[in-house]
Amino acid sequence: MGFTKKLTNDQATIAFGKELGPLVQPGDVILLDGDLGAGKTTFTKGLAQGLGIKRHIKSPTFTLIREYQEGRIPLYHMDMYRLEQTGAADLGLEEYFDGDGVSVIEWSQFVKDLLPDDYLMVHLEKDPDDDNRRMLTIEGKGPHYQKLAQEWEEADGK
Ligand SMILES: Nc1ncnc2c1ncn2[C@@H]1O[C@H](COP(=O)(O)OP(=O)(O)OP(=O)(O)O)[C@@H](O)[C@H]1O
Ligand SMILES: [Mg+2]
Repeated sequence: MGFTKKLTNDQATIAFGKELGPLVQPGDVILLDGDLGAGKTTFTKGLAQGLGIKRHIKSPTFTLIREYQEGRIPLYHMDMYRLEQTGAADLGLEEYFDGDGVSVIEWSQFVKDLLPDDYLMVHLEKDPDDDNRRMLTIEGKGPHYQKLAQEWEEADGK
C-alpha cells in the first residue's frame, strides 16, 4: 500500500516534504531511499520547513546525525553513507528512534540490522530524460505508517 508522486523540480520536492511536517509524530522513522543526488536532503529541507524549523538544513554526510530542536517536534536527520568509518553500534540509533522527535535516515541500507520493523519509506528516483524531475514512491510498513502515508496523500495539494 502506498502512492507515487511525480515532482518537476526541487521546489516541488520541498513543498511535498513540507506537507508531511504536520503529520509526523514523536518516534516516527522515515527512510529516504535513492541514488546520490536523488533529492533525499532536498526532501528533508521541506520536511524541516513543515515542522517549523527555520535553521538551514545541512547534509549530515560527515557528522552522520544532525539534530534540530526548534520545530514542533525535534528532527533527527541522519545520513549513513560514510558509516564504515565509525561503526553503527556507537551511534545510539535506538535512543533516537525512542526519542521525542522524528528520525529521517538517508542511506539506511547501511544500518539495515538496526532499523525498526515498521517505518515510512520514501523512494526517490531520477528521470533519465529530465534533470529536474523525480518520481517518489511512498510506502508505509505496518499499520501506523500505512495510515501516515494515507494522511499524506490526502493532505497533498490541499
Ligand atoms: N525534483 C527535484 N527534487 C529534488 N532535487 C532536485 C530536483 N530537481 C533537481 N534537484 C537537484 O538535485 C540535487 C539533489 O541533491 P540532494 O543533496 O538533495 O540529494 P541526496 O539524495 O541527498 O544525495 P546524497 O545521496 O549525496 O546525500 C540538488 O542539487 C537539487 O537542487
Ligand atoms: Mg543527502
